[in-house]
Amino acid sequence: MAEVTSDNSPMNDRFLRACHRQPTDCTPIWLMRQAGRYMPEYRAIRQKHNFLHMVKTPELAAEITLQPVRALGVDAAIIFADILPVLEGLGLQLTYEQGEGPVIHNPIRAPEDVSALRHSDPRETVRYTLDAIRLVKRELDGELPVIGFSGAPFTLAAYAIEGGGSKDFRAVKRFMHAHPAGWAALMDALTDVVSQYLIAQIEAGADAVQIFDSWAGQLSPFDYEHSVLPYVQRVIQTVSEVSNGANREFPIIYFGTDMAGMSSLVSQTGADVIGVDWRVNLNQAWAELGDIAVQGNLDPAALFAPWVEIERRAADVLARAGGRPGHIFNLGHGILTETPVDAVRRLVDFVHEHTGVPAQEQLISKA
Ligand code: CP3
Repeated sequence: MAEVTSDNSPMNDRFLRACHRQPTDCTPIWLMRQAGRYMPEYRAIRQKHNFLHMVKTPELAAEITLQPVRALGVDAAIIFADILPVLEGLGLQLTYEQGEGPVIHNPIRAPEDVSALRHSDPRETVRYTLDAIRLVKRELDGELPVIGFSGAPFTLAAYAIEGGGSKDFRAVKRFMHAHPAGWAALMDALTDVVSQYLIAQIEAGADAVQIFDSWAGQLSPFDYEHSVLPYVQRVIQTVSEVSNGANREFPIIYFGTDMAGMSSLVSQTGADVIGVDWRVNLNQAWAELGDIAVQGNLDPAALFAPWVEIERRAADVLARAGGRPGHIFNLGHGILTETPVDAVRRLVDFVHEHTGVPAQEQLISKA
């Protein structure tokens, strides 16, 4: 852990302060998938390269990471990467097909396929993302925090078994139910890879990490509790130990969608921050989650509305957060393609301008 130091905290620290539920000058905001096809700068690069090439070329990934930082004024950069390339290291063959999304060409279908997975060290297999983090940190020069991320074991297992996106997640559930030992072996392997990947990102300079369990809400609470949650807990426990060794806490954000019915389980993950989707009112989710920081939760589709309607909905999210320390404004899921950039920019300004201790009070407290 020698590479993790505590002397490089970013200047704009409102995101990190909010993760620790400390008061901030105003509410921090960043947006899931803030780098992407809705941005003309992204499309200009995308026109020339395929997606995996962009992810695997640190200079391109670093540049794309910084595009929304410059264009939007957000309070954190999230490294441009994807949750799936780490699966290549295990021997799974991944491509992204036009209009179809990610495809795994040799999906896991039987317990024997789990035994055949390669041992994978993310420091080698996804070194390009670690290099991209180093470049972004150098470029930002302490201006903003950088968020690293990984898919959670379940969401990665879902892709590895389904072979791509899915409507009903039948294959991954069947595997989980039919092959308990094979499931445990697969989740063990993914838990190790995810933990090492997140630790490597922190070593490379990430100030916080987010674990995307995008599809965990497709599970029953029973399956989540018994077959998924223990592995999330192990990832978070393992990654937290880095903080203990570094004399500085690196916040861990856990995000899933459709999980409003599982708040009491999600609050047991050990994460510092829980990302909440838009299907639940923020105050209700927060009450159920308890003493923890909360990130969210404007409906990404709201950004297509006329500005007055966006403003009403953003104000509603802020009112439900009620100015409590520990709110990080975000969307309830990734930004949608074709979202008007101007709406996103106005949203960022709106959140900054309508939150925080009034300047007056700040002056008094400083006096
Ligand atoms: O937030 C950020 O700006 C960082 C970048 C980021 C991407 N993917 C870039 C991307 C992050 C955090 C992700 C996470 C991710 N990837 C998740 C979890 C979050 C979520 O949305 O639930 C998942 C499930 C994936 C898998 C994935 N990658 C899918 C399903 C797709 C295809 C759908 C689509 O939007 O095209 C991707 C491709 C992808 N990942 C793109 C981007 C910018 C689009 C690629 C392109 O330019 O064609």
